Amino acid sequence: MAMARYLITGIAGFIGSTLAGELLKRGEKVRGVDNFSTGNKENLAELSGEIDFGEADLLDLDAMKLACSGVDYVLHQAAIPSVPKSVLDPIGSNRTNVDGTVNLLVAARDAKVKRVVYAASSSAYGDTPTLPKHEDMTPDPISPYAVAKLTGEHYMTSFYRCYGLETVSLRYFNIFGPRQDPSSPYSGVLAKFITQMLKGQQPTIFGDGEQSRDFTYVDNAVEANLLACKAPGEQVAGKVFNVATGQRVTLNETFKLLQGLTSYSGSAIHGAERGGDIKHSLADISLAEKHLGYKPKVNFEEGLRRTVGWYREQIAGDRH
Ligand code: UD1
Repeated sequence: MAMARYLITGIAGFIGSTLAGELLKRGEKVRGVDNFSTGNKENLAELSGEIDFGEADLLDLDAMKLACSGVDYVLHQAAIPSVPKSVLDPIGSNRTNVDGTVNLLVAARDAKVKRVVYAASSSAYGDTPTLPKHEDMTPDPISPYAVAKLTGEHYMTSFYRCYGLETVSLRYFNIFGPRQDPSSPYSGVLAKFITQMLKGQQPTIFGDGEQSRDFTYVDNAVEANLLACKAPGEQVAGKVFNVATGQRVTLNETFKLLQGLTSYSGSAIHGAERGGDIKHSLADISLAEKHLGYKPKVNFEEGLRRTVGWYREQIAGDRH
């Protein structure tokens, strides 16, 4: 195995592959694992640079030990990242998102890595009416996915407390951007809407469309991960930070913006509200600003423009 400073789990996924691209750009040595359950081989092929890749499952402890050997930082992005999927299959969600995370932590501990940074989820907050959400609020997860992701945070903190393994949990708020998979019924809403509207297909808004989200462009999440690796341990180890933009938009507003960007002139279908959904989501990002030095670099509108541009190219490429 080639030497590497960073291990990315879920490297073939949307966020994992974007992280890998940025690390390679910075001249870092990157190793990655993926079981291709939701990841995509094309995301790896697009990386311009050498990665040390292994096809492996989080549940394979020996493979995780091998993957962790010699690395300084583990960026744990691998997951089954879906609220509705977890509602249908809570056992599968728990197996990957909880058991898989514990396996990885044991491997990272035994390999004596410097730090593990974890893709946690804003869904931990649930439907608490207080906005914005800040990290010292009592979590109130609704879906099995949210419970699993929150459990992962607790394991992160536990491994710091019990074994001194430095961990940082980043609560992602609806990350979107190029390479997010639009093709599954469980795909994130922006990937779905953008591809549907570019193809002239009518998107479906679940519920009245007045639900809001702190949609966060992927480059901001990448930046937060890299900052989380290097921030002083005494300020961040064992802790949890929101990663978002600190602004929210409703689905109806988003749909209007997308009509402008995609030239889709039709309307949206309104369907039933989705089970396990939360109504509003907005982050207080001051803790990440203070301890990680995090500031969102790309705002929602700019992120949306870049994302639409990327999907437009993909769709044009598919036609040729
Ligand atoms: C949730 C979590 C997020 C997590 C993500 C993983 C919250 C606030 N966020 O996102 O941290 O990473 O799951 O998947 O809990 N929608 C439609 N039409 C569609 C698809 C979705 O109207 O075709 C609606 C949904 O009902 C929802 C909103 O769009 O109200 C956003 O949905 P989605 O993109 O799936 O993300 P969340 O469930 O908010």
